[in-house]
Amino acid sequence: MRLQKPKVLAILGYPLGHSLSPVMQQAALDYRNLPWYYVPLEMAPPQLGAALRGLRALENFAGANVTIPYKEAVIPFLDFLSPEAQATGAVNTIVVGEKGWKGYNTDIVGFLAPLRRRRFRLPGKSAVLWGTGGAARAVLYALGQEGVEYITIFGRNLLKARKLVTALKNFLGPAKTEILLFQDPRAAARIQKAHLLINATPLGSAADKENKKATSFYRPLLRGLSSKALVYDLSYTPPLTPLLKLAKNKGAAIINGQEMLVAQGAEAFRLWTHGAAPIKIMEKALKSALK
Ligand SMILES: NC(=O)c1ccc[n+]([C@@H]2O[C@H](COP(=O)([O-])OP(=O)(O)OC[C@H]3O[C@@H](n4cnc5c(N)ncnc54)[C@H](OP(=O)(O)O)[C@@H]3O)[C@@H](O)[C@H]2O)c1
Repeated sequence: MRLQKPKVLAILGYPLGHSLSPVMQQAALDYRNLPWYYVPLEMAPPQLGAALRGLRALENFAGANVTIPYKEAVIPFLDFLSPEAQATGAVNTIVVGEKGWKGYNTDIVGFLAPLRRRRFRLPGKSAVLWGTGGAARAVLYALGQEGVEYITIFGRNLLKARKLVTALKNFLGPAKTEILLFQDPRAAARIQKAHLLINATPLGSAADKENKKATSFYRPLLRGLSSKALVYDLSYTPPLTPLLKLAKNKGAAIINGQEMLVAQGAEAFRLWTHGAAPIKIMEKALKSALK
């Protein structure tokens, strides 16, 4: 048997806290009997360039995941971008190849995977998207590419929301977009009409400092939510976020961010190893890490 050389993968971010990617990816690598190691690498923003140059010097560095706050900041350090990374201006996966470092955005595939699994058809639908940050960028791109008809984007900063829509305008297909502040009097009416509501803000996640305010923030917005709607919270802890609890009580279908986390990680695994990810193993590792 020819032994493979050990390779190193990493997650790059700051701060990394208790990132779940190392547990999930290491379980997948071990399951596939790959002698690879996946490590959390934390660096403060002024050190990002030095850290990336250091990684370039390593013979067995195979790639990385990239998380907050570096999804945009890593781009100048890469040699190529996938079309999705180019369009969204955000990279969450780096693959080291023979020709250089390539940036990908697997949040797009990751976001769509739970919808595909449920056979939720996006063409012609009305969607509401909360948030205008990095994850919202991937979601907006995915919704546009999949043929969603109306997209209302809610933010707390109109300028940031406009910048997001302008940056992606060539990728939104036939979608009609509208931007509203959360407190806009038309907010509840838009939500009432939505087939799909996506929360791409951290409000209500375990990591959020304003967590306690989440239920009172969301309750008035969900006043008219249809029981036929699907509510998708990108946060992965707690499994039933305040938003999902309210939506469930209204009879709506819900999805939490755990499936997306696994799906974006599975796509990264495929890009690094050229083999299919053991999704069930990754789900199991994630669930036990979350316990
Ligand atoms: N499941 C997954 O695989 C996955 C993948 C990526 C992200 N996520 C989750 O998605 C969420 C967003 O991540 P991100 O990378 O997009 O973060 P980000 O770039 O920091 O963007 C966060 C967005 O939420 C808004 N926001 C923050 N606190 C808010 C509040 N209290 N009320 C209203 N809006 C608020 C921010 O508004 P301002 O711009 O005004 O600050 C911004 O638009 C996080 O919970 C993250 O864990 C999950």
